[in-house]
Amino acid sequence: MEPCSLGPVNHDRMISFDSVTKAFPHNGSGTTTVLRNLSFDVRQGDFTCILGPSGCGKSTLLNLVAGFLKPDTGSITIDRKPVQGPGPDRAMVFQDPTLFPWLTVLQNIMFGLRRKGLDKAECRRQAMHYLEFTGLGHAAAQYPYALSGGMRQRAAIARVLALHPMVLLMDEPFSALDANTREHLQEELQNIHSAGKETFMYVTHSVSEAAYLADRIIILGDRGTVAHDIEVTIKRPRKRSSTELLELKTLLRSHLAHLPCCMTHTTRKPAQP
Ligand SMILES: Nc1ncnc2c1ncn2[C@@H]1O[C@H](COP(=O)(O)OP(=O)(O)O)[C@@H](O)[C@H]1O
Ligand SMILES: [Mg+2]
Repeated sequence: MEPCSLGPVNHDRMISFDSVTKAFPHNGSGTTTVLRNLSFDVRQGDFTCILGPSGCGKSTLLNLVAGFLKPDTGSITIDRKPVQGPGPDRAMVFQDPTLFPWLTVLQNIMFGLRRKGLDKAECRRQAMHYLEFTGLGHAAAQYPYALSGGMRQRAAIARVLALHPMVLLMDEPFSALDANTREHLQEELQNIHSAGKETFMYVTHSVSEAAYLADRIIILGDRGTVAHDIEVTIKRPRKRSSTELLELKTLLRSHLAHLPCCMTHTTRKPAQP
């Protein structure tokens, strides 16, 4: 069996980018176009990895879906509704887990649930469920400072899962962790994805991570356009040492190596006469 197939995918539209362009001011003298005329759709329930080198616009893309940024032109829709700001249908996990240091792990998970209007006992029950689910039941009463980096990241994942978002956005969530913890959390994430209905958009610069986790890999190219759109059909659970995975990683490395090195485009304002 081929490890992956290139070409068009079934465009079921859970997340939809339609001709999205985003530029940022550059040194006060022009703009840097990070994403240009970007169009693609993400299917409901898929695990889509956005892969690309540093600075190619991956975080910008995710921040647009989260509603933290607005596109200059074009539109983004979630389940056919335009993104007009952050909303409860989406949740984000960052590279540095953002837990409240003055709350215990359990209270951190309960915080978002309380804001949804659930009573305290129900919040506690649901929070404990997700802590057990992510292997943190034993750490419920601990404060974030007492946890390892991997445990803090698990707590951050438990917190977003408890909120039942339709879309989970993850921006290089494991890149600051040691290799063993990272692989362990990738396995857990694969299980979480298989067990649920959430749609994942996962940003990474690691070909190993993308090959292991993704149903689909979008490689961002020049100025944030889609350079490659790869459907991954390797069956789960995946084995890191399988020939299919190794072949896919080789393909991804080759695609990345052939991207133009200048990823963004800067326009300078003409000098004042
Ligand atoms: N708020 C901002 N203001 C100005 N430039 C920005 C801002 N956010 C990102 N950029 C620039 O946009 C480009 C892409 O950034 P980013 O999306 O963070 O890339 P990636 O996540 O792929 O490393 C970089 O050149 C970065 O400096
Ligand atoms: Mg980034």
